[in-house]
Amino acid sequence: MKLDKILLATTNKGKLKEFKHLLKDAEIQILSLQDMPQKIEVVEDRPTFLENAIKKAKEYALFYKVPVIAEDAGLEIDALGGFPGVYSARFFSLKEFGGEEPVQDSTDRANILKVLRLMEGEKNRTARFVSNIVLYIPEEEGFWTEGYLYGEITQSPLGEGGFGYDPIFRPIDSEKTLAQLSPEEKNRISHRGQAVRKLIKVIKQLKNE
Ligand code: IMP
Repeated sequence: MKLDKILLATTNKGKLKEFKHLLKDAEIQILSLQDMPQKIEVVEDRPTFLENAIKKAKEYALFYKVPVIAEDAGLEIDALGGFPGVYSARFFSLKEFGGEEPVQDSTDRANILKVLRLMEGEKNRTARFVSNIVLYIPEEEGFWTEGYLYGEITQSPLGEGGFGYDPIFRPIDSEKTLAQLSPEEKNRISHRGQAVRKLIKVIKQLKNE
């Protein structure tokens, strides 16, 4: 199958950087939404990561008529019943779970402060990151892969790297938060790293068909 160009459908700068790094050996040209002349908005309103990823991949692929990779990812905290989950990007703005967190400097920072507020005094701090990735080839077929990273929520933010909740997530068997790891170290163990490596196998197989 001719699969030389794929649109990476994300506007999240942190994600985009990680994806480009992870896909650099896939021998494929990666387009980003900035390369597309016309803009469309896809609302992520589905109850699961997979349904959101399918929705994003299909809507962008059918509009731009190119194969699309879309990811929906997030943080699931056991003591919060799996929240923020699909609301990870905008947890700070949810009226539920202790109300809205004011945004002082960044939405990532507001999300972190809300989680830390809710987790104050909580002994069970286990959590996981989830990544669901969908590759959709317009009018043909779709594929999905997933990856998980298990760990715990720290008492306070540590580290400057990564994005999102990285400063308050310490992977199992690590003394550092994700934000204290180098990009290579994070990609080696992360939910996204695992899901992308599975996706690269799918892409290689499709290119040989
Ligand atoms: P999405 O763009 O709807 O998939 O939003 C994902 C949100 O989940 C991001 O805005 C982050 O808040 C969070 N998230 C996903 N992956 C990561 C990660 O690798 N590190 C930290 N936060 C993440």
